[in-house]
Amino acid sequence: MKALALNAIKSPLQLEDRPDLIPGPDEVVVSVKAAALNRRDYWITQGMYPGIKPPVILGSDGAGIVSRTGSGIPDDWVGRDVIIDPGTDWGDNDAVQSAAFTILGLPRDGTFATEVVVPACQIHSKPAHLDWTQAAALPLAGVTAYRALFTQGGLNAAGSNSNQRVLITGIGGGVATFALQFAVASGADVWVTSSSPEKIDRAMEFGARGGFNYNDDDWGKQLIDQAGAPNLIVDSAGGKGYGSLIHVAAPGGRIVNYGATTGPPEKLDLFKVFWKQLRLQGTTMGSPNDFAKMLGFVDEHKISPIIDSVCPLEEGAEAIGRMKSSPQFGKCVLSIQS
Ligand SMILES: NC(=O)c1ccc[n+]([C@@H]2O[C@H](COP(=O)([O-])OP(=O)(O)OC[C@H]3O[C@@H](n4cnc5c(N)ncnc54)[C@H](OP(=O)(O)O)[C@@H]3O)[C@@H](O)[C@H]2O)c1
Repeated sequence: MKALALNAIKSPLQLEDRPDLIPGPDEVVVSVKAAALNRRDYWITQGMYPGIKPPVILGSDGAGIVSRTGSGIPDDWVGRDVIIDPGTDWGDNDAVQSAAFTILGLPRDGTFATEVVVPACQIHSKPAHLDWTQAAALPLAGVTAYRALFTQGGLNAAGSNSNQRVLITGIGGGVATFALQFAVASGADVWVTSSSPEKIDRAMEFGARGGFNYNDDDWGKQLIDQAGAPNLIVDSAGGKGYGSLIHVAAPGGRIVNYGATTGPPEKLDLFKVFWKQLRLQGTTMGSPNDFAKMLGFVDEHKISPIIDSVCPLEEGAEAIGRMKSSPQFGKCVLSIQS
């Protein structure tokens, strides 16, 4: 098989020939058709992620065809079109992952390869309305967005959320674009922030009511004047802008964070937090239940992931490098010829 391997931190990924994979008990080998990039892959190449042990094949997201099965897994899995839940060993508690939880693509070799081996319990049928590129874009960002909005953020996945105003920050991001699509599909009133007017325009094509440039000092006032205070804010930036989120949130509102791209908040105005009765909620990826519910939601609403770009596996190193300046709107995908 061919694989894009990280052999040392801050060195470009290398395309290498590797022996074909052999599935262990209760595992399957998937012949990968497409794999998607996440900011996690960029953080790992830069050495900004815990537990990096090169050499490793990166890639948490993938879709493909089951080619071999290990003992305990019936042969009729072979030939099935599947997508992979990138979370391993979540554990029994839906509220939080176990200490054994890991993400495909470190420490276990991931999907930037023509083959990947995964536990069979992480395989799901590919949603029929998605092509390979769209299916590969879905898993990590999709489950993170689903849990942020519904499991942790309190939107109702099964009902109308017309009384809920949702603000999604940094709308160019892969998770953020899924949050936009899911929140719009659930009937919420959705607004966004971005550094880019073009990305705000794109977000409005996908159902956002409007957006604000988070680099404008008065973006929060613009939001309150035009839209009103949001009941739910979904954020992955943190940093000095986090104080503005506490300021604009509606009394009784929720702020859900799945990342801290710009670091910790400079200050935390606890007076506003308790007086406005805000709920500050962290979230990470999703449980197997979240993943299954996310797939059901995507199928019910026939949601197609927003794809920014597709390039061949051979150009994966350059594609990860481009993530440094976040030019994308949606997901960057590697197409893989087995
Ligand atoms: N906890 C989890 O399970 C989990 C899962 C996935 C991702 N994450 C984390 O979440 C973050 C985003 O991941 P991703 O894969 O969606 O990233 P991504 O696709 O690379 O998107 C990053 C986006 O962040 C936005 N951004 C940058 N600075 C910002 C600021 N000051 N305020 C608001 N937005 C800002 C930009 O939006 P604009 O281009 O619109 O300006 C950019 O497009 C990363 O830190 C990642 O590690 C965590």
